Amino acid sequence: MTLKLGVNIDHVATLRRARQAVYPDPLLAAELCLCVGADYIVIHVRNDDRHMTEKDLARLCKAYRKYMHLECNFSEKMQKMALKYKPYSVCIVPETPGEVTTTGGLKFTPKNFDRIRQMTEALQKKGILVSLFIDPSADSVRAAAKCGADIVELCTRDYSEATTKKQRAKLLGDLALASLLAKELGMEVHAGHGLDYENVLPVADLCGISCMNIGFSIISRAVLAGLPNAVCAMKELL
Ligand code: PXP
Repeated sequence: MTLKLGVNIDHVATLRRARQAVYPDPLLAAELCLCVGADYIVIHVRNDDRHMTEKDLARLCKAYRKYMHLECNFSEKMQKMALKYKPYSVCIVPETPGEVTTTGGLKFTPKNFDRIRQMTEALQKKGILVSLFIDPSADSVRAAAKCGADIVELCTRDYSEATTKKQRAKLLGDLALASLLAKELGMEVHAGHGLDYENVLPVADLCGISCMNIGFSIISRAVLAGLPNAVCAMKELL
């Protein structure tokens, strides 16, 4: 099984927003990522529109629908938006106003559970694959299976923030067990959040994981790796 990479390009739009400009253009970023082998383009359209917007989703789906993986929460508004643009897949994530980034997996309270299951069914009816972003626990994996998810994305945030080897090994073990259970229950397994060039390989090596979704570390590296080129181009002009 070849491990796939979904590149989250949200922070290209964060940069654009910082100057309220029209560039850098996420569409061009998506094209560059796909040209060099990214398997999917991931964007999170948030209720506060802080980086990617519905307009970005529309443009990206028009150009690259079969590579588009949308992250959004389980509100009616987001469901309607996903059904309108029909990305290849949708990952339902929790969202709290004001959070800096997603803080963990979905919490399957009875009310949330019904809503997530309804949204899952509605998206699947239109041919969209549904992923649920969950914490790596047996309860969450079972709840995702009950919702009818095609995919679970295991949250690697705790793993990536672990401060000791022992803690990291324990959290890697949780991810391994959750991955095995999800496969046993017939779901595809993805992983993401906080993964970087230092911590990604132990997760990538876990049995059953077929796709890693990574954003911040890739965009951060791109900024520094691209800086010499950008400076040289300006020097040449001057
Ligand atoms: N997966 C999910 C569900 C996320 O919410 C995020 C962050 O938007 C990522 C993966 C990517 O996380 P990071 O930017 O830390 O690589």
